[in-house]
Order: sequence, then structure tokens, then C-alpha cells
Amino acid sequence: MKLIRATAAACEAMAYAHATAFDEKSWREDEFDDLLDGAGIYGFLADDDGQPLGLILCRMAAGEVEVLTLGVTPQARRRGVGLALMIAALEVAREARLAEAFLEVAVDNDGAIALYAMLGFEKSGLRKAYYDRGPAGFTDALVMRLDLTAAAA
Ligand SMILES: CC(C)(COP(=O)(O)OP(=O)(O)OC[C@H]1O[C@@H](n2cnc3c(N)ncnc32)[C@H](O)[C@@H]1OP(=O)(O)O)[C@@H](O)C(=O)NCCC(=O)NCCS
Repeated sequence: MKLIRATAAACEAMAYAHATAFDEKSWREDEFDDLLDGAGIYGFLADDDGQPLGLILCRMAAGEVEVLTLGVTPQARRRGVGLALMIAALEVAREARLAEAFLEVAVDNDGAIALYAMLGFEKSGLRKAYYDRGPAGFTDALVMRLDLTAAAA
């Protein structure tokens, strides 16, 4: 497995990984393309010999980084791909001397919350009814924060 820095050339594979990783509405290739043109946007694609395994996309702004999306295809889970993507993305933020990382995660997403906690993220807030799950209703999001100036977990 290798991590490839997200560029326009990786958008098709990132859209595939996103669609495979998420049950909900996935982001199209052209949406990734537009996002990557945005200020402070960066990310990585996890690739196994041409097979997309997962992706991460982040946005740096005002001394912070926000994780916009992280997804790993079901077949590739629990093999350290998500952790590797997070570590690579946080390393970029630390190199840029950003102070904090933030992300939102559904309150019932125990696996992702465990992954973020492993990296040192702590709960810092709650956004009520943040995720629209259609007929299943709305789900709250936890806001999680990591102090990037502290030693890496
Ligand atoms: C959450 C997600 C990105 C994790 O990716 P992954 O590659 O499977 O995670 P890793 O293998 O790197 O896991 C690292 C650690 O995180 C924790 N973890 C990850 N998934 C877990 C799960 N389903 N249940 C419990 N702990 C989990 C474990 O501590 C794990 O270490 P271990 O396998 O040695 O026990 C992946 O399950 C996914 O894409 N889910 C759907 C999309 C999603 O929820 N994205 C996050 C939105 S905020």
C-alpha cells in the first residue's frame, strides 16, 4: 500500500474510494476536482497497485486543519489504512505549524471515534442533527479536536 498525494490525476480513484467507503451520498470526481482547487485543500489516496483503498481530504485555514472526509473501502478495513491516512494528513499540518486539528464524526460511529481517540483527538463539542440520514432521521455529530503542538500520539 502506498499513499499518493491528492492531485487532479487522483480524482477518479478518490471518487471511487469515497463511493465505496460511504453508504450515504458520495462525492463525484468533478466535485473532488473542484475541491482540490480550493485554498488550503490537500489529501491523500491510499493505493494498492492501482486499487484505491481509501482517501483523506483536509482543509487548512486560519492556523487549523479540518478533516473533511476520511474513508476506507470495506474490504481494506482494519489493516491500518485509515490510521496511515490520518497520520500522513496530520504530518502535513504539523509541518505547516498549524496549532489544531478538528473533525466531525457521527456520535454512533464507534470505529472512527476509536481511531481518532487513538491519535489523541478529544471530544470538544456536539452539533445537533448534523447528519441527514434520510428516512432514518438526523444524527448528531461529535466535534473532535487535536492539539497539534503536543507530541504526536
Ligand atoms: C473509520 C474508518 C476510516 C477506519 O478505517 P480503517 O482503515 O478500518 O482503520 P484502521 O485499520 O487504521 O484502524 C486503526 C484503529 O482504529 C480503531 N478502529 C478502526 N475501525 C474500528 C471499528 N470498526 N471498530 C472499533 N475500532 C476501530 C481500532 O483501534 C484500530 O486498531 P486495531 O485494528 O489494531 O484494533 C473506516 O471504517 C471507514 O471508512 N468507515 C466508513 C466511513 C467513515 O465512517 N469515515 C469516518 C467519517 S468521520
